[in-house]
Amino acid sequence: MTDLYAVVGNPIGHSKSPAIHMAFAEQTGQDLSYEAKLFELDSFAEQARAFFDAGGKGLNVTVPFKLDAWQLTDVLSKRAQRAGSVNTLMQGKDDKIYGDNTDGVGLVRDILQNHGGTLAKKRVLVLGAGGAVRGVLAIILEEKPKSLVIANRTVSKAQTLADEFADLGKVSACGFEALAGQKFDLVINGTAASLQGDLPPLPDGILAGGAWCYDMMYGAEETVFNTWAHQQGAVKTMDGLGMLVEQAAESFFMWRHVRPDTATVIAQLRAQLS
Ligand code: ATR
Repeated sequence: MTDLYAVVGNPIGHSKSPAIHMAFAEQTGQDLSYEAKLFELDSFAEQARAFFDAGGKGLNVTVPFKLDAWQLTDVLSKRAQRAGSVNTLMQGKDDKIYGDNTDGVGLVRDILQNHGGTLAKKRVLVLGAGGAVRGVLAIILEEKPKSLVIANRTVSKAQTLADEFADLGKVSACGFEALAGQKFDLVINGTAASLQGDLPPLPDGILAGGAWCYDMMYGAEETVFNTWAHQQGAVKTMDGLGMLVEQAAESFFMWRHVRPDTATVIAQLRAQLS
């Protein structure tokens, strides 16, 4: 019987996950189907359990249910525990629900493997302190950057994250104005500002020579953050399309124990955007 997987969210119509996972399945010869499901807002746990009870094998979880998925999980991976959110669920043979968060690995693998970059010994700046940023901090810190600054509009949220992750490396927090005079080798935008075409109010001159910039958002056009990055002299800009495909590949690996080739799928999606 064909194994059933799904991505669940609200809204969900725009999701590229079905196309990505079906491309992985075709490429690796895995017999599975993968669909997008709209879950009602008020009963995530019941709907997820019903999916598994009906024989579903695994779920990807997106906005706004990643915290609900974390709460539902019986056995959290170490990185999901740290992230405080879950984007990948499966039911084990013991009937327990296993939860993982593959977003951080998706981001770091995109920078390291797809773009040939490095985080080790770099001065890294992360913009934003919401769920998207919390989900990737531990994996960034595993790469041993020289320092990690979290800058956010609401400074207290950045400070909470810095405190929470301080055992993993040199992490500090500040507001955007306080970045003036500092220099960074890699700036990662994890604010939701890009969604509305907004840019956090960043001081000029914070990019070190040779700096790279990464926007966790993506779109058909260059994001406003990446336009800013070019204007400020970044030598390379990246967007979140690669992260999207890499986090999916890690979920696929968790479920199927097979690693798909991501480069071809990223190229296909990129071509469809324009
Ligand atoms: P997500 O799950 O996408 O991280 P979130 O948890 O609501 O969503 O967090 C959104 C992040 O984007 C926050 O860091 C938010 O800043 P605040 O904590 O100060 O609210 C940031 N953000 C959203 N709109 C922004 C804007 N116009 N300028 C700067 N930061 C913005």
